[in-house]
Amino acid sequence: MSAADPRPDAPLDAVGPQLLLRLSAVIRTARTHDVSNQAFQRQLHDLLAVIALLHGDEDECVLGAIADYFYLDGRRIKASATLLPVYHGLLGEFERRAVGGIRFLQGLHAAELERFFQLFMAAEDPAIAELLPQTIEEARIEHVVVMPAADLDVDDLTREMTEQRTERGRAKRVFWRAVLGTKKILLRARQSGRPDLRQAKRLVQPVVDSVMRHEYSIVGLTAVKDHDEYTYAHCVNVSILSVGMGQALGLPRQVLADLGVAALLHDIGKLAVPGEVLRKPARLTPEEWHLMQRHPLEGVKMTMRMPGLSMLTLDSMRVCLEHHMNFDRTGYPEIAHDWGQATLSRIVAAGDCFDAITAHRTYHRRPRTAFEALQYLLGPTRVSFDPAVLWAMVRTVGLYPAGSVLVTDTGHVALALSPNPEDPRRPFCRLLTWPDGRAVDAAEADAWSPMPKDVRVVRVLRPEEHELATQDALAA
Ligand SMILES: [Fe+2]
Ligand SMILES: [Fe+2]
Repeated sequence: MSAADPRPDAPLDAVGPQLLLRLSAVIRTARTHDVSNQAFQRQLHDLLAVIALLHGDEDECVLGAIADYFYLDGRRIKASATLLPVYHGLLGEFERRAVGGIRFLQGLHAAELERFFQLFMAAEDPAIAELLPQTIEEARIEHVVVMPAADLDVDDLTREMTEQRTERGRAKRVFWRAVLGTKKILLRARQSGRPDLRQAKRLVQPVVDSVMRHEYSIVGLTAVKDHDEYTYAHCVNVSILSVGMGQALGLPRQVLADLGVAALLHDIGKLAVPGEVLRKPARLTPEEWHLMQRHPLEGVKMTMRMPGLSMLTLDSMRVCLEHHMNFDRTGYPEIAHDWGQATLSRIVAAGDCFDAITAHRTYHRRPRTAFEALQYLLGPTRVSFDPAVLWAMVRTVGLYPAGSVLVTDTGHVALALSPNPEDPRRPFCRLLTWPDGRAVDAAEADAWSPMPKDVRVVRVLRPEEHELATQDALAA
């Protein structure tokens, strides 16, 4: 924020994320604890404190969930990268209950808010969800009012709100729904010993639809790594990248759908690897490495437990087995030399490597930038990958993948947000600094959609060369 712009609403910008964090913590605690429990009571009071802060001398504050975004008193709540899982998790909670907004009125007290959450939690059942506003009224809760999603008149929304329903907004919703849905699938598979394929298909379908419509915002979202749910986002990222590569290679829709599911489940065998080994930040001992290398086979075993046999189950098994095998057979598991790695496995292997080396420091002194990762795949490790798949990778992520900080011949510094299927050299960008070196203000945030034809990238900056908060800009 510049000194010339006092922004009277600035405190709202800080309190909005606080409100979402507290609300999400209350809902999470209510899932595992009774409302009388101390843990729940603590969360409830923290939430009340934020609401009190918001009220000030206003009569009420309104939290609305409209067109995939949260609004606090009509202003969009902007999420930083770390807040994204909470943001989209909460959007899901509203959506499941057909809630379009909640009004918190001045005078709200703890007992009333506690009762509200009891009813809110119970309304997860769709049969009860639509009765929620009525149930709340009947319970004589006067200071919390639920606004049904159906009652929000979209025509009445401000221009800003309707404009948000852009391709990028939709892509974010699809992406985060997939991340949170994958979390559910994996947590359940840990218990049942097998993944729910139908659920996986449901998550992947909209990804395939976007890619087939050449809407590549979703590919750009794979660059956001800075959040707690990365383990699950990795599965989704690999799925998105694989579907993109499959499309570049001309695979038909049905195969793309199967590829997306197989890619989503490629690491399912890791559920059989002890958590200490998976999370160990240091180098693995030979025994631990042996356990880790069993995950492709364990994945096959888990997919074999899925009921019914279809092309999809066969493809998933094969991708589980072969995604670390490498094109030159230098990977694992060790297998007869004349074994051919299936096309889908070759695609997933490249997507997996690209995503992993841009997220983990274990492979390098710091996670590679997406641009460095591309150079690495096309350079020293290219013999481990199918050349056609590497070509498809460049078609999918572009020459300057999302997250790259670009210096152009016009003197701008821009952040690549998503690839441009028309021209891999000119991604969709957010401008970071003007040619005179002035930072582009968050309020005036300018964009190239995509980079103009007469602009050329002259250099890609390394993270050491700038101090720009690229993760938050990617998430915005
Ligand atoms: Fe793996
Ligand atoms: Fe992986």
